[in-house]
Amino acid sequence: MGEWRSLCRADEVPDGAGRTVEVDGTRLAVLRDGGSVVVLFDRCPHAGGSLGSGWIEEGEVLCPLHRWRFRLRDGRCTTMPGHSAHVVESRVADGEVQARLG
Ligand code: FES
Repeated sequence: MGEWRSLCRADEVPDGAGRTVEVDGTRLAVLRDGGSVVVLFDRCPHAGGSLGSGWIEEGEVLCPLHRWRFRLRDGRCTTMPGHSAHVVESRVADGEVQARLG
């Protein structure tokens, strides 16, 4: 099942964008779209771009390297169907973004 790990405070994640957090050597992209926070592996399946350095448009995060788009709700790539970003189970508890890892 994995354990819940705190990544950062929710108010440290800019709306419409994100940040990258490293936990036990795993880089995670924490992204905010209005009131919802999503956690993805911080590695674009195209060429490894940092999704935590991307930005959000219409419920999708854009990779900063070549602008492939990934749906936040399921990680599916809408630019190149068949690719996807890995979504990590997450929650906000007491103002902290937490992800289930391991
Ligand atoms: S590395 Fe993300 S679109 Fe190319």
